[in-house]
Amino acid sequence: MSENKIIERLPKHIAIIMDGNGRWAKKRLMPRLKGHQQGVSRMVGLLQYAYKLGVDYMTVYALSTENLNRPKEELAGLYDLIRTQFESAMAQLDKYEVRVKIIGDVSLLPKDVQEIVQKVEKKTEKFTGKGLNVALAYGSRAELVRAVNQAIEAGEKLTEESLSNLLYTGGQPDPDLVIRTGKEKRLSNFLLYQSAYAELYFSDKMFPEFLDEDLQKAIEDYSNRTRRFGKTDEQRREENL
Ligand code: FPP
Repeated sequence: MSENKIIERLPKHIAIIMDGNGRWAKKRLMPRLKGHQQGVSRMVGLLQYAYKLGVDYMTVYALSTENLNRPKEELAGLYDLIRTQFESAMAQLDKYEVRVKIIGDVSLLPKDVQEIVQKVEKKTEKFTGKGLNVALAYGSRAELVRAVNQAIEAGEKLTEESLSNLLYTGGQPDPDLVIRTGKEKRLSNFLLYQSAYAELYFSDKMFPEFLDEDLQKAIEDYSNRTRRFGKTDEQRREENL
């Protein structure tokens, strides 16, 4: 497929479930944390590639609320990774002028980790070109409950649109494409409301081995699919005339 065709139907927003770091490391007889370290650099590489292609928004699932129940040592290792890598990883996106937003219940993270991620949010606030959501201590159901409670407290009756605006991703386009690496085929409480019409793409590769060319393949696959949003082919054709 030509590069042009990909660009023609480029998703505006891609979300990635970065699964398989642990298995990648285990297969190489390395500690799980090595897999996460490798995951961070692969994540940066994929983000740079996507922004270079022209994708506007990216969302990466870095830590779910369920992940917070991992063994203490692994969690401590993940927090250390954020402490030592997060700022420099995000700085590698500066040339694309990416505004970084943390989605999730940041209050569940250690205080110093909260400060690190908030510092990056603040630093990139000035950027308006591209967006990156980093999901940390994120769970879609908790996000929805939080939004609904906000509406109840404000005495407001929700609409689909107002609920969407109350989510962490409020004001952003919904993901067009959700990619999950690591062989599992489920959404694991990730962007459930936002992904109602997203195309789903599952890769058997573990996240650290999911290369730029694999992302390109996923985008090509997306660009070949017909998105009807519940309508018939004829209706969609008429709309596009
Ligand atoms: C899932 O793999 C991955 C995670 C729980 C963590 C993903 C995090 C990163 C790639 C780094 C984020 C860090 C920063 C600095 C933003 P898994 O451990 O579930 O793998 P497994 O299914 O093979 O066990």
